[in-house]
Parts: sequence; structure tokens; C-alpha cells
Amino acid sequence: MNKKLAIYPGTFDPVTNGHIDIVARALDIFDEVIIAVLVNGSKEPVFSVKERLALINQSTAHLRGVKAESYDGLLVDYLKSKNCNVVLRGLRVATDLEYEFQLATANNMMDPGIETVFLMTSANYVFLTSSVVREAYSHGGLLPKFVPPAVHEALINKFKK
Ligand code: COA
Repeated sequence: MNKKLAIYPGTFDPVTNGHIDIVARALDIFDEVIIAVLVNGSKEPVFSVKERLALINQSTAHLRGVKAESYDGLLVDYLKSKNCNVVLRGLRVATDLEYEFQLATANNMMDPGIETVFLMTSANYVFLTSSVVREAYSHGGLLPKFVPPAVHEALINKFKK
């Protein structure tokens, strides 16, 4: 039987417990999840792609069936190269919906075989974003409940004066 694969794309600057929660729950539905880090997005990341991949690997070491990769260009092309037709995304608050709807529709227009599967983010992480995490640590604030231990350490080192 073919393994059910989903691709979870994003910037992951850095990965948070909210992302990990989505991946862990997706593994009840899919056999494998690839966490795909976009290389040249519109955002200016704090962590390099290499650093983000390493942090994802460390933060998902306890989960079977997960791997991290990077991709450049269109998501639909990356999906094709992986022979995968499922995009996994987390929905946090109502404001995510319009943007996610646009993204899913654009991807589906470019490749009608593609389906986007949304998981609702657990209540603890509903208002969590990577920006909030970056901002807190950049000013000396700590959010250890919201990021994996490796990310907590990496953020402290990144913003050390
Ligand atoms: N828990 C915590 N935070 C979450 C989360 C969760 N479960 N789910 C999303 N987020 C946060 C992210 O941390 C991120 O926060 P930030 O903006 O503060 O950094 C934000 O929600 C959404 O970012 P992300 O999931 O990284 O999406 P994105 O909008 O940056 O990028 C891509 C989306 C990468 C999937 C998309 O832009 C892409 O594939 N681009 C390639 C080009 C392409 O094919 N475009 C398609 C249309 S033409």
C-alpha cells in the first residue's frame, strides 16, 4: 500500500510548539509528513534555512515519520517533485482563514490534483506566531512553554548581546 504523505510548508522562523502540535496530530492521519521550509519567501528570516532545518530536526526527533526539507519556487512544483498531492496547514484564528483560502485556491488552480488539509491549532497555541516568539526573545523575554527546548536555546544565543 502506498504511504500517505502530506507536506507541511512554511517559513518556520523558528518552529514553535504550535507547529509541532500540528505535525504530531497529522501523523495520526498520514504515514509521513515532510516539513518543508521555503527558501526565498518574502519574509526576512532571523534563522538561516540550515538553522531552521536543524531546529526542526531536533524538535521532531521524538516523532516517527517526519522529515524536514527546504524548497524554492512554487509549492505545487515541490509537491510534484515529491509525488505528493496533500498540503497540510494549521488554522489558528479566524483571520488565518482568508489568507489560507487564497493560498489553497491558488495552489488548486495551478494543480487541480492538490488538496489542502487544515488542522485546527490546539487552544494553547491559538495566538502563537513565530513573530511573537522572535519579538519576545529579541527583547530578553522568554517563552519556554511555546517553543521546543532547542529553539529556546537557539533564540537566547541568537539575541545574546
Ligand atoms: N502554530 C504557531 N504558529 C503558526 C502555526 C501554528 N500551528 N501555523 C502558522 N503559524 C504562524 C507561522 O509561525 C507564521 O508566523 P509569522 O508570520 O509570525 O512568522 C505565520 O503563522 C504564517 O506563516 P507560514 O506558515 O510560515 O506561512 P507563510 O505565509 O510565511 O508561507 C508558504 C506560506 C510558505 C506555504 C507559501 O508562501 C509558499 O509556499 N510560497 C511559495 C510560492 C507559492 O507556491 N505560492 C503559492 C501561491 S502563488
